[in-house]
Amino acid sequence: MVPGKPFSKQHMGFIQAQRGTRDILPDEIAYWQQVEATARSILSRAAFAEIRTPIFEQTDLFERGIGEATDVVGKEMYTFLDKGERSLTLRPEGTAGVVRSFIEHGLHAQGGVQRLWYMGPMFRYERPGTGRQRQFHQLGLELLGSGDVRADAEVIAIAVDFLQTVGLTDLQLELNSLGTRGDRAQYRSLLVDYLTPYKADLDPDSQDRLTRNPLRILDSKDAKTQAILQAAPLLGQSLSAASQERFAKVQQLLTDLGIVYTINPKLVRGLDYYSHTAFEFQSVQFGTVGGGGRYDGLVTELGGPETLAIGWAIGLERLIGLLQQLNPAQPGTADFYVVSRGEAAEAQALKLVQTLRGAGFKAELDLSGSAFGKQFKRADRSGAAACFILGDAEAANKTVQLKWLATGEQQAIAQADLPALTDTFRQQIAQSREQSSADV
Ligand code: HAM
Repeated sequence: MVPGKPFSKQHMGFIQAQRGTRDILPDEIAYWQQVEATARSILSRAAFAEIRTPIFEQTDLFERGIGEATDVVGKEMYTFLDKGERSLTLRPEGTAGVVRSFIEHGLHAQGGVQRLWYMGPMFRYERPGTGRQRQFHQLGLELLGSGDVRADAEVIAIAVDFLQTVGLTDLQLELNSLGTRGDRAQYRSLLVDYLTPYKADLDPDSQDRLTRNPLRILDSKDAKTQAILQAAPLLGQSLSAASQERFAKVQQLLTDLGIVYTINPKLVRGLDYYSHTAFEFQSVQFGTVGGGGRYDGLVTELGGPETLAIGWAIGLERLIGLLQQLNPAQPGTADFYVVSRGEAAEAQALKLVQTLRGAGFKAELDLSGSAFGKQFKRADRSGAAACFILGDAEAANKTVQLKWLATGEQQAIAQADLPALTDTFRQQIAQSREQSSADV
């Protein structure tokens, strides 16, 4: 684009991004990179290894894994026939693909517990809205090969640790137990018996779910349906003694770890594979930010050997949306911003950024050639800790001016002295970053 020339999108026959998708632009990317770096660090300390599975899979995998009666499979899948007439689906979530890979590569044969994590785009044909997209990103983990109650508490603790480290300290952790398949079958018939006489008063979605997936009615946002549910039997009452005992142990372990949670007896989750522990992290702004639970039957459902497992996924758009509200300034980008004016100064400035980069600093060169005032404004907006200034005088006597942007402090330095000052600069940058994060 040429500065100053008007640009019309219509005129150019411009093609927009698809509804429900969005570009993550440079003015946002530092949040993503920080969240991704925190995830890698926390998950590797917890001995989880990254796994990357394909973005599309055979449609059947999701139909069998997630359940045909769920909204995700029934309404939201991006399914298409490829040129070989195979029915493929863009993954709506990560667990089914990870389990497929676990079975296909015989990871179960390695014995012990497999601790896997993943991060990447997922696809659901939903109505786009606040915190709801058609292409979104999840960070998830799966712990396969243990039915120990400590595994439940451990994966929840890792999620809490991650969320707190990125800066989200006020999410609500909600917990429930979905018991065994047998417990749920019993509850399902109690719930259907209770709701059937009210069928005409339920919202249309819930009427539909009464035969297809009655437990999901508990999740309805409709006020009238919720009023009817007030007196409905609760899932907890249908849990066997063993399931109740298991749930009590998980709660005790979480309490021992100092993790705060509330029990939500209506929490059922949107995917069919869950049993026993189910949990969600709730925010006021975007509703559910993350969720997960135990899925003891999924590996056999998908043709593998019996493997007890638990995992979770966090929606990164929702998480980053919350972080942006908490810290509206993007985390700092460059260490130094270099401004210059005049032919000789501009040539020296180019050498200076290269020298700074060679010494390990992040340095940005202003290429505009505009007046110093405008270049200083860009330096302020760049998030850099300090600005190097070169004009005709500096070029002539081989010096630079160094200005610390947080304090406005400025000093002249001989260009020849710069290499000896790198350690001092590093310390000053660290101090200046501490100063500006304390100011937020
Ligand atoms: P999920 O609850 O369906 O669980 O999705 C996890 C998170 O993905 C949600 O809490 C939300 O933040 C985000 N998310 C879902 N749909 C959208 C959307 N349309 N737009 C933006 N964000 C969205 C799962 O996917 C399970 N696989 C989690 C799991 C792993 N369970 C066991 N292991």
